[in-house]
Amino acid sequence: MNIESHRPDLVIMDIRMPGTNGLVTLKKIKEIDARLPVIIVTAYGTMQTAIEAMGLGAYEYMLKPFDVGQMRKIIDKALAAGQLMKKTVSYPPLAGTAKEEDLIVGSSAQMQEIYKMIGQVAGKDVTVLLRGESGTGKELVARAIYQHSKRSDQPFVVVNCAAIPETLLESELFGYEKGAFTGAEERRIGKFEQSNGGTMFLDEIGDMSLSTQTKILRVIQDGEFTRLGGKEPVRVDVRLIAATNKNLEVAIQEGKFREDLYYRLNVISIYLPPLRERKEDIPALVRYFVEKFSRELGKDVRAIDEAALHKLVRYGWPGNVRELENCLKRAVVLSKGDLLTAEDVQIQGTEKKERGRKEEASLEEMLEQVLDLASITEGAEIIPLVERALIRKALQKTGGNQVRAARLLGISRNTLRSRMKKYRIAKEVEITRG
Ligand SMILES: Nc1ncnc2c1ncn2[C@@H]1O[C@H](COP(=O)(O)OP(=O)(O)O)[C@@H](O)[C@H]1O
Ligand SMILES: [Mg+2]
Repeated sequence: MNIESHRPDLVIMDIRMPGTNGLVTLKKIKEIDARLPVIIVTAYGTMQTAIEAMGLGAYEYMLKPFDVGQMRKIIDKALAAGQLMKKTVSYPPLAGTAKEEDLIVGSSAQMQEIYKMIGQVAGKDVTVLLRGESGTGKELVARAIYQHSKRSDQPFVVVNCAAIPETLLESELFGYEKGAFTGAEERRIGKFEQSNGGTMFLDEIGDMSLSTQTKILRVIQDGEFTRLGGKEPVRVDVRLIAATNKNLEVAIQEGKFREDLYYRLNVISIYLPPLRERKEDIPALVRYFVEKFSRELGKDVRAIDEAALHKLVRYGWPGNVRELENCLKRAVVLSKGDLLTAEDVQIQGTEKKERGRKEEASLEEMLEQVLDLASITEGAEIIPLVERALIRKALQKTGGNQVRAARLLGISRNTLRSRMKKYRIAKEVEITRG
């Protein structure tokens, strides 16, 4: 099998092979393509070699006999990791024509500034911090930086700090020595060692514990760390791209984020603005996603009508581009013809929540006045006062119709009746007084 001509997406190999040594083979594979994920299968007796293989950039090792279900999971993860490195991310000034690429879409002034930044920082081996709400494209930009860097032929490894339980994150990143803690039966190589020479995308760094932050700082400053339970420093050459949707300045105030790490990371930071602050990008994003999903899902959607587009532009997109993307995917899946209409594009859930939040805010403003009033009439029982007024208003609005008033208030008719009794609200009075 020739790696160079076959260009596989994944290699699964034994460490003990006739006529050759697995480590030598692994080194050769990595020389040809450092981004190619390699899974090692091995018998217990050669486990030490397998561990060494991880240090040479193997994706994972499995002991024979292995569980097929678990192997499948690892294969899926390895393929996804390989795909992330190889599927190009382009952005306007450099956009390619390949169908199989992710494009950063948007020509707003803010996005153009971001393209400029990517161009400036990609080629330099510096740490970059990406900031912005969830779904604004931080991971996409991280991949673009990686692919336009000098390390583009080396691994790109993603670690999401928020997705890994705090206790496991350190061993995931730095590995551990045998006996470092109960259950550490063998040495484990962490992601930093595995991605040596490459780039690591540390997502959601605002969720890292202080102790992990200390270790990360040391990697940035000195290029070294120690495995858990180890004494020997391990040297690595990894370029870091970090991201967070948290307000790190506040986290520092609260003692949850190290200030020195913040200054290290923040030397070069790129802020991705929420979609609602660059609405002019929405039409282009819509066209991009409709075309992409139509192609990927084998549909024939060619356009979106005026009303549908208007609906999408008007909405606030609290989930940013990710929410828009999901909305359009749904629309394309469910579409019947070649034109998406306003009915086809259903904005789900979050819009209601957002509206709810706004209403709560204006309600609070109104209640402020009630409280001001209460402070004048000392001793007044505010809650019954508000409840009574609310019920009277509801009855007025519905012309005394108790069924509709109860529905409006979100209570049962019986509850309404008992409250009316309690507050001595007579139905006739409500209607005549208007
Ligand atoms: N400007 C953009 N153009 C095209 N797709 C985008 C853009 N921004 C984000 N996306 C897509 O939206 C989704 C969320 O982006 P992601 O980079 O994961 O956001 P974040 O990391 O900030 O949460 C991804 O599928 C990504 O490809
Ligand atoms: Mg993300």
